[in-house]
Amino acid sequence: MDKILVIDFGGQYNQLIARRVRESNVYCEVVPYTMPLDEILAKEPKGIILTGGPNSVYDPESPHYDPELFSCGVPVLGICYGAQLMAWTMGGKVETAPVSEYGKTDVDVDISGKLFHGVSDNTVCWMSHTDYIAEPPEGFRITAHTDVCPVAAMENAGKKLYAVQFHPEVTHTAEGRSMLNAFVYGPCGCKGDWKMDDFVERTIAEIRNKVGDGKALCALSGGVDSSVAAVLMSKAIGKQLTCVFVDHGLLRKDEAEGVDRVFGPDGGFDLNYVHVDARDRFFGKLAGVTEPEQKRKIIGEEFIRVFEEEAKKIGAVDYLVQGTIYPDVIESGLGKSAVIKSHHNVGGLPDYVDFKEIIEPLRMLFKDEVRKAGLELGLPESLVYRQPFPGPGLGIRIIGEVTKEKVRIVQEADAIYREEIAKAGLDRKLNQYFAALSNMRSVGVMGDFRTYDYAVVLRAVLTSDFMTAEAAELPWELLQTCMTRIVNEVDGVNRVMYDLTTKPPATVELE
Ligand code: XMP
Repeated sequence: MDKILVIDFGGQYNQLIARRVRESNVYCEVVPYTMPLDEILAKEPKGIILTGGPNSVYDPESPHYDPELFSCGVPVLGICYGAQLMAWTMGGKVETAPVSEYGKTDVDVDISGKLFHGVSDNTVCWMSHTDYIAEPPEGFRITAHTDVCPVAAMENAGKKLYAVQFHPEVTHTAEGRSMLNAFVYGPCGCKGDWKMDDFVERTIAEIRNKVGDGKALCALSGGVDSSVAAVLMSKAIGKQLTCVFVDHGLLRKDEAEGVDRVFGPDGGFDLNYVHVDARDRFFGKLAGVTEPEQKRKIIGEEFIRVFEEEAKKIGAVDYLVQGTIYPDVIESGLGKSAVIKSHHNVGGLPDYVDFKEIIEPLRMLFKDEVRKAGLELGLPESLVYRQPFPGPGLGIRIIGEVTKEKVRIVQEADAIYREEIAKAGLDRKLNQYFAALSNMRSVGVMGDFRTYDYAVVLRAVLTSDFMTAEAAELPWELLQTCMTRIVNEVDGVNRVMYDLTTKPPATVELE
């Protein structure tokens, strides 16, 4: 299998580079710059990409690399810091640029350069640098420049060494994909025949190898990530895996049954599945609690308690499986081990459960890649395309105290809203949408009677990263249908509102 390795020098786009290469159907993974060259070569890469990074290459404290890399015969592409590292290591001159370039920048390109066949001779590229290559090393020719940068790209085609100061991996570089393709298909000679099923097969084999006849434990939330991780594990080690699904009573309507259908005895996956009905426990703990952070804390802690009790019944396990995916991983950069953002729904588990090691089979994938893997593994589309759902569940979609009655109201209203959104064909176009329960009760009239009932809030947002979001402009008719159905079909509701607020100043969830 053709493979490209990305050596990470602490740049923020390291995994994005790998993802772009995988999008071109070539297997790619990121390795730290601390990995010695012989180990890298033992992996038999067809090409190596050096990432950007925050350092100055002429600073002795900066991450450097074995110069042999540039004469080992494997094609190398240096990006940003990686480009400067190549230039500096091979005797070129790198210094602070007279002005930094940041953002979209016009680049003049020599289209006879190996990376630039078919690219426009003046093309917009994404720049982000304070140092630059002032002079290329001997044997290199300059293949691109900007008003500021004399060497925006250089190559030594004989040695199969290429470097670009800009970032071809980000979409702001209009023709970046073509440049990366030129590298992987050209000098590296990759065939582009890698598919997600190769990832699946390879990961299954790796897990099998690692776990041997050991035991693994997985907390299943019914979300995409933990489900895909669980199925990968079950395909690899079958009944050596136990999946624990904690029903805290704060799931959406029929969701717990859905998880049972997929992972229970009739689901077609060969694993030990434990469904823990902890609904009463959670409702008991949440009684009388109104403060949002306290609610989150209680739900998180109780989850751990329940999981821990179940784990104890199973006894010591060797591995704890987590569905961590790349966006959950905060790279410390510079190749040191990554810090895991504690998942809200499984936060803190490692301290409480007796196990030797964590397995995170999805940690190099982005969400859409996880979905592809899920489909490959035979998970139902309804699960694979499930919208994000917070660990504390409906607990943070009910303002104020959480009660069984309020959960029923939100579940029913939300089910209607989801059904109508799907009917309108918007379910995959919106990034997140849900019903929530305001703690407001107001006066209404139904038939000839006065009512004093709750107001349901509908929310639908468009966002690329959930850091900022805007309310979707849902068709008025759709909103009206939802309003009519919710007030008619859900007892205890006499008002429906649509939340127009952007994030910031609001957040996506109501608490
Ligand atoms: P906010 O409300 O912070 O939400 O704008 C942004 C995204 O994060 C999800 N979210 C959570 N996910 N546990 C989770 O697993 C949580 O405690 C939590 N809080 C918010 C939210 O659904 C949205 O997708």
